[in-house]
Amino acid sequence: MQGKIILICDLLVKYGGVAPKMAEEAHSQVIDQVVQEALDKAYMTEKDLTAVAVSIGPGLSLCLREKFLLSVTHSSVHVLHNAVGVQKARRIAGGFNLPIIGIHHMEAHALVARLIEKDLQFPFMALLISGGHNLLILARDLGQYIQLGTTIDDAIGEAYDKSAKWLGLDLSRSGGPAIEELAREGNAKSVNFSIPMRQHKDCNFSYAGLKTQVRLAIESKKIDAKIPISSASYEDRLSRADIAASFQRIAVLHLEERCERAIEWALKMEPSIKHLVVSGGVASNQYVRARLDTVVKKNGLQLVCPPPWLCTDNGVMVAWTGIEHFRVGRYDPPPPAEDPEDYQ
Ligand code: KG4
Ligand code: ZN
Repeated sequence: MQGKIILICDLLVKYGGVAPKMAEEAHSQVIDQVVQEALDKAYMTEKDLTAVAVSIGPGLSLCLREKFLLSVTHSSVHVLHNAVGVQKARRIAGGFNLPIIGIHHMEAHALVARLIEKDLQFPFMALLISGGHNLLILARDLGQYIQLGTTIDDAIGEAYDKSAKWLGLDLSRSGGPAIEELAREGNAKSVNFSIPMRQHKDCNFSYAGLKTQVRLAIESKKIDAKIPISSASYEDRLSRADIAASFQRIAVLHLEERCERAIEWALKMEPSIKHLVVSGGVASNQYVRARLDTVVKKNGLQLVCPPPWLCTDNGVMVAWTGIEHFRVGRYDPPPPAEDPEDYQ
């Protein structure tokens, strides 16, 4: 198992991010063992399960498998991803006659907060920040989400990842944690990046322009990404840290401004809102949490941030969202067993 996990990390480093085709192959190599390990850890076998939940979108286009689309979903998603996971889920559900629940991965990021914060009732707001998405939503009830804002180009996680790559940082985890760590050594006001979309009085996001500003700053300081940060001179390291810190300050200021406006909007629609959930990979960042906590408190709400291991993509959030849907009867019947002999 260890070896297989290292294989995926190696791919991340080699391609400087997720290479869709490689990711699909790597997923199919490990899926059986990962599921088995999860069952073993829970002292269960498939026979003990009540239902199977699986993430079905949104995701990487190369992983799409249209033929499963009709049979797996109750939710409003129209793109199906993680075909490897969906195939596995269908095999288990079909083989053991279990209901199957298709889960939207961004909904799972939002709802996992209800697993850790029992007081978190609908309606609440959520800021979901990951590698592919920037979403501000008003969650009125289970399955009833109003989108207040989304990115018009890149998501914040993409900007963290690319900046980390161009700064020659260690990508063995992902770019976000590497930037967060390096930013602690830098002066966040040393590079003058501009805050995106200030002239747009809405709750949408844009990170493509900030990404370009970072790239230009790196070029103008003659930073060579081929020299890893671990081999950089003291001055070189400091100038990379200044860029990382300045980038992070502006990237998060953009979040703060949009959240402030979204809270104002949302409270007009639902005055009983008490919480803003911040989730998705980027929400594991301590600086992001601290800054948003200030904004949320200033506006009379409470911040709910799942622990970092539940903010980055994980199976618990999908399973929990499955439980939420299952409890209210939203699930599909067992799919036909594809190859019953597998389960004899
Ligand atoms: O939600 P997630 O795990 O996967 C997607 O749905 O995309 O989010 C991954 C993103 C990556 O861009 C990663 O760099 C970012 O979350 N991330 C962070 C941190 N940890 C993960 N960004 C900033 N600071 C972090 N500590
Ligand atoms: Zn995610």
